Amino acid sequence: MPENPHPDPLSLLPRPRELTTDGSGGLTLTSATRVSADHAAQGTLSWLQRELGAATGLPLATGDEEDAQIRLSVDPGAGLGREGYRLIIDSEGAIVVGNEPAGVFYGVQTLRQLLPTDAYRTTALGGAEWRLPAVSITDAPRFQWRGAMLDIARHFQPKREILRFIDLLALHKLNVLHLHLTDDQGWRVEIRRYPKLTEVASWRTESQLGATKPATFDNRPHGGFLTQDDIREIVAYADARHVAVVPEIDVPGHSQAAIHAYPELGEVGEIPVGTQWGVFEEILAVTDNVLEFYKNVFDELIELFPSTYVHVGGDEVPKTQWKNSASAQQRIRDEGLADEDELQSWFIRQLDDHLTQRGRRLLGWDEILEGGLAPGATVMSWRGEEGGIAAARAGHDVIMAPTATSYLDYKQSERPDEPVPVGTLLRVEDVYAGDPVPADLTEEEARHVLGGQVNLWSEHIDNARRLDYMVFPRLTAFAEKVWTEGDRDFAEFEPRLRHHLRRLDAAGVEYRPLDGPRPWHTRPGLYGWGYQPGQEAPEQGHAGA
Ligand code: ACM
Repeated sequence: MPENPHPDPLSLLPRPRELTTDGSGGLTLTSATRVSADHAAQGTLSWLQRELGAATGLPLATGDEEDAQIRLSVDPGAGLGREGYRLIIDSEGAIVVGNEPAGVFYGVQTLRQLLPTDAYRTTALGGAEWRLPAVSITDAPRFQWRGAMLDIARHFQPKREILRFIDLLALHKLNVLHLHLTDDQGWRVEIRRYPKLTEVASWRTESQLGATKPATFDNRPHGGFLTQDDIREIVAYADARHVAVVPEIDVPGHSQAAIHAYPELGEVGEIPVGTQWGVFEEILAVTDNVLEFYKNVFDELIELFPSTYVHVGGDEVPKTQWKNSASAQQRIRDEGLADEDELQSWFIRQLDDHLTQRGRRLLGWDEILEGGLAPGATVMSWRGEEGGIAAARAGHDVIMAPTATSYLDYKQSERPDEPVPVGTLLRVEDVYAGDPVPADLTEEEARHVLGGQVNLWSEHIDNARRLDYMVFPRLTAFAEKVWTEGDRDFAEFEPRLRHHLRRLDAAGVEYRPLDGPRPWHTRPGLYGWGYQPGQEAPEQGHAGA
């Protein structure tokens, strides 16, 4: 087993880079405790006063720098590294210095973890001693992209749950929320110019239950969408927690809902919003009108989302309709393209040019490599590491999210009572294992790996309780993988995780217990891939998930 260079008796998660503690003294927060922050750290000061103030029941009032016991500041000259911080606690007080405002925020997240786990409640229960141990911590993340994707297209999650999810990302020092906003089964973001996208395409008549064939349905409409004001609120809420929200509009496949609202976008006329899970033949046409439509959609989207990266999907695009389409074949001839793969690449390039002209960066699933990568593209590698390796070798930035370690919709054990099991086995220890940087890359190529991401596809996740079950505690293991440098040893991690679960309990998170589902987590009668005797599993790859 690799030796853990920094054993951490305080169960900090993710484990910090350097930690010393001599078990002495420390600081006890009381009603007399004052806090201060320099100008650049004011955002974290308000967060601390609101969150820790509520949890501890202490006023944590603002004091002068001289008399404050908790002092926050930003010092880019302190040599702490991007998003890095130093946290020093002794009997006199606690000092948090960040390389930038995000570092201060992470330092205060660490400070919260050092308190009793009741610090994760919303109200003080009374009687707690809010004691912080004496420590000296210097910390910074290994990767700049520490992301989680939430698919709100297959099943919508209301704004309230998205805000809560952002808090839980921040608690784990994650900094990207990728919102999968559109798919065959629903369109979830208001676009003023095209109102039918939400009036019509955000609803479906029913939903497939499980993943068996022939499909069975719940006979109940499903829908919902985020208004532009909801998006602005989510983005601002995330920004205050140093989380960037990256929007995804998935094209040219996974677009049945949009085609339902505006049939001229497709190749075959009117089609319903999807009600089944899988990969479908119905894709976008590659006409000038379709390009114009999506450029307009992305223009509204970038007004709402300040994120540098804008995700255009690009995954799982069957090319049959283009093979049979006069306009697609005409485009291939006009542009001198070799085949339908190059046609998809051409389509993505148009969006890449458009986004680049507007100062944004195009992000896409690894299928955007097929037929040639657009010059400005960053690749999200999901079908294994190969796409990430190829893109990094071609000098493009990549984010690693291979199914084998990153797909949180995948089953958490081989137990027959796992709810709707799909995919390959992905236990907490499987998420924890592996390195985001593929071993085959040279040091130079590895610099293109911006970080890693876990993805939560929601075909079988129709509410926040099921979301919690699938996400936690696997997200905790992922957070350490993308934050902490050096060797990771699950045997060392597990006791810290067990302590961390008490924080999640206090925060009201309904994670999957380490010893398996509780009865109400199970979904008797619903089957995942190939589970029901006598029934065929769906043919598709992930989206069958
Ligand atoms: C994907 O899982 N279809 C990106």
